[in-house]
Order: sequence, then C-alpha cells, then structure tokens
Amino acid sequence: MDRFYFDHNATTPVAPEVLAAMLPALQDCFGNASSIHRFGQEARQRVENARREVAALLNADPGEIVFTSGGTESDNLAVFGIAGAGGHVISTTIEHPGVLNACGQLSGVTYVRAGSSGVVDPDDVRKALRPDTKLISVMHANNELGTVQPLAEIAAIAREAGVTLHSDGVQAAGKIPVDVRALGVDLYAISGHKLYAPKGVGALYIRKGVQLKPLLYGGRHERGIRPGTENVAGSVALGEAARIAREHMCDSALRDRLEAGILASIPNCHRNGTGERTPNTANIRFDGIEGESLVIALDLRGFAVSSGAACSSGAVEPSHVLTAIGLSKDQARSAIRFSLGRSNTVEQVDALVQAVTSAVGQLRKMSPAYA
Ligand SMILES: Cc1ncc(COP(=O)(O)O)c(C=O)c1O
Repeated sequence: MDRFYFDHNATTPVAPEVLAAMLPALQDCFGNASSIHRFGQEARQRVENARREVAALLNADPGEIVFTSGGTESDNLAVFGIAGAGGHVISTTIEHPGVLNACGQLSGVTYVRAGSSGVVDPDDVRKALRPDTKLISVMHANNELGTVQPLAEIAAIAREAGVTLHSDGVQAAGKIPVDVRALGVDLYAISGHKLYAPKGVGALYIRKGVQLKPLLYGGRHERGIRPGTENVAGSVALGEAARIAREHMCDSALRDRLEAGILASIPNCHRNGTGERTPNTANIRFDGIEGESLVIALDLRGFAVSSGAACSSGAVEPSHVLTAIGLSKDQARSAIRFSLGRSNTVEQVDALVQAVTSAVGQLRKMSPAYA
C-alpha cells in the first residue's frame, strides 16, 4: 500500500540536498570547530556559512544567531534567559509546551487568551503589562491551527513598554516569510526538523544588544550563550534547509483544495481557527467522531495525519490549544490536523478527501454520539 504523509507540522523528512550538505560534515570534515588546525577551520567555516544562511532566512545578522538543539531549547533559553531570575512574564494559552511548561516553572506569568479565531488580541497583551514585566512570549504561528499571531503589533506594545519580546517561530519559519527586523521581535526560536533538516538542531535569534543569561555553563562556544562543542553537521543541515526554504515558501493551494473537498463532501464538520493561517495547515473537527479513531482509520488507509499536537499524541486529554479557543472537550477530541508539505500532490490530496469521507462515514455509523 502507498503511504502518504500529511503531518508536516509534527516533523518533516530531511531534504535530499540537506542530507548531501551534512554528510561531509560527519565524515571528511569531522573537525571540532574550535580547533585551530585545518580540520577545525574547515568545520568552523561550514558552521559560519550555515549561520549566514539561517540569518538570511530571518533577515538577521549572522552574529545574532545562536545554534541550539532545537525549538524547545531555544524557547527555554529565551524564557529563562530573560525572566529566569524573576519578574513578570506575559504569554498565551495557545503556546507550545516548549514555552508553556518553561513559563510553568516561573511565578508571576499572565496567560493571555486567544479568541475563537485562534488569534491573540494585542490589546489583551497591553492590558496584561505590569511595571515589573520583563518578557512577552507570543508564538508566531500556532502548531495545531496554523493561526498567525499579530506579532508586529505586539512588538510595538513591547517596545513602548521597554519589555523584551520572544516569539516561538518554529511553525512559521519556512512556511511564511519571516523578517525579524520588520516584525520587531527581540528573540525568535526556530527548529530544524520542521523545515526539512534533522531533529536535534535549532537556533535562537537574539537581537544585538539583548542580554540573556545562558541555560548551560561550559566553554565559549556560541559566544558562551550556548556552550558545548558545536553540532557541525546539524548546523550545516539547518543552514542548507534555511537556504532552500527561502526559495521554496509553500503556498496554500493544496491545503485549500483539501479543506474545500472535506467541507463539501462531509456533513457536520467544521474548520477550527478562522484567523490568518500558515498555508500548509488545516484543522477540522467532525461531529460524533473521536479524533484518535480517525487517525487510526486513516493510517490503515495509508494516510498519516494527527489529532492534537504530535508531542502530546498518546495522551487522552484533548488539545489545550483547541480548548483554549473555546471548544468543548468533546469538540476538541473530534479534531484532526492536516499539515501539508513539499511532497504532497493534487492526486494525494484528492485521495485523502476520499479516505476521510469513507472513514468518517464508517466511524459515524458506529458512533452513538453521532446518532
Ligand atoms: C510551535 C512549536 N514550538 C516548539 C516546538 C519544539 O521544537 P523541537 O521539537 O525542535 O524541540 C514545536 C514542535 O512541535 C512546535 O511546534
């Protein structure tokens, strides 16, 4: 049976060009980027080239990019680096656990709610400000809904109040154009495995002049902000992925076709998240259906999709994002996230619409909730 992947917000395959770029950094060019001999210099050169590519994706200066182990570490570095020693923090109820659970370690956090559209109102961020507010952390694009947050407006509020603004850009980078200068953010987190690089590498943009306390203590790597011998191959991979992403921003045609096909073919299903969205993400709930059952039914038909965030799959609790935008637990449990990527085709999308239609029909026949 052919298998088709529609879960790119959970993770992406490593692009062939990315694999080709990183292999030499694991084999011939295996040096420690801090060594002064030729092996070390070659590794250093590759890391710095990669830093330039990542910076170009975000319209940052290379000196403003610090490589990390991924989105979670970048988020934690931002949150604890600014507010770990105390002070008030403003975040939102729809953040990824990388921010939410980091904030959960701090006292004095105000969580701003997103509306039913899946978008935060900048005015609510303004109202949450306190004289001791040190950090505002608002994600750029939500991983489950794809909704894009009004970062530039929030940045203006943060700037006026003299508060540092962090954004988790893990689901935005590579999907929509990101310009950290135009947005006005101070810190911006990205993750390799969401943009066709491997798992275990990411980066944090740290605007020049922003002072941040490290999470780890060790050598002078990454200017002492992120010590530990550099992950040369991972950084090279992220650099190559960033270069490709600049040239291949995705468009929404296939997602729109999928969404329109499902909404037209299946009665009593509803789109979640009505705000502006990343072009690859659709979140739809099906009355009377358990999302987990539909994920399994589609997997048996050869399609990989997700119910709720991948990081919490296996958990019985409904998605905190969907309940945060006002859905009941049952409504949240009936939702499926479809996230498209580079390899998806019109034929796959049309086949997925058919598979969802037949699976939902079959499950509803067995569902007392639907009767
Ligand atoms: C919005 C968001 N932030 C952070 C992360 C964590 O990134 P990583 O898996 O690289 O730690 C994810 C991963 O799902 C995410 O979707």
